[in-house]
Amino acid sequence: MASPWNPEQYHRFRNERSQPFFDLLELVAPVPGGTVIDLGCGTGELTEALHAKTGAATTLGLDSSETMLAKAADHAGSGLSFAQGDITSFEGQFDVVFSNAALQWLNGHETLIPAVASHVKPGGQLAFQVPANADHPSHLVAHAVAREAPFAEALGGYSREWPVLPPERYAEILDGLGFEPLHVRLQVYGHHLPSSEGVIEWVKGTLLTDYERRMPAELYAAYLKRYRERLLAEIGGHTPYFYAFKRILAWGRKPA
Ligand SMILES: C[S@@+](CC[C@H](N)C(=O)[O-])C[C@H]1O[C@@H](n2cnc3c(N)ncnc32)[C@H](O)[C@@H]1O
Repeated sequence: MASPWNPEQYHRFRNERSQPFFDLLELVAPVPGGTVIDLGCGTGELTEALHAKTGAATTLGLDSSETMLAKAADHAGSGLSFAQGDITSFEGQFDVVFSNAALQWLNGHETLIPAVASHVKPGGQLAFQVPANADHPSHLVAHAVAREAPFAEALGGYSREWPVLPPERYAEILDGLGFEPLHVRLQVYGHHLPSSEGVIEWVKGTLLTDYERRMPAELYAAYLKRYRERLLAEIGGHTPYFYAFKRILAWGRKPA
């Protein structure tokens, strides 16, 4: 299945998307001369900021998407490198295992988080951020349209599973692994989009890519039209539109 990640579409909301990254980065203590991995690094400029803040000797940006990595290559150098790989099957242990806005693409967080945490060196840090907005109409309508004809047939009944757990569950999992201290929080990021239509442009760069890659282009165009209709009926046509977006930020230190 071709990678649907489109750096241009994703970057349309670059500032809004980078704030949670910098909030997560605030939680990470520097590891001068240490090792860092950024899981689902995307286009690499934020990985560069991670590398600079931690003072690590080496930082590896890992991503499965060739299109995202092609952009990331521009940021490589001075100990920062990028590689194609999968979050479920990479190797090594690191002083910091970091992931911003990527783990929500993988299912089974009850086992995924311990698996990711196993790559943290003793005394090292795990930091991740995931969206927690599955109950917003922007997401609910996307799945509802996917269950309508003719999209449901084309998708073979597929509707995206939402794997993100409640924030307290991440705290419990990390506590169960001995991580201490812990910092886990739910934060609402308010985005003033020019209009309600801005929500469509937002989800086109993320959530909808999952449906896009599963249907022919002309059917996806029809899907978008129907999504727009139903979404605007649900949230109303506002100018500007306040898009309240919940996210979970989690950080913890592994016992030495
Ligand atoms: C929403 S982007 C976030 C990119 C970057 N971390 C940022 O904050 O801008 C999610 C990234 O996760 C990557 N990704 C999704 N599933 C992955 C997997 N199983 N293994 C590696 N990368 C994955 C995608 O290719 C994409 O670049």
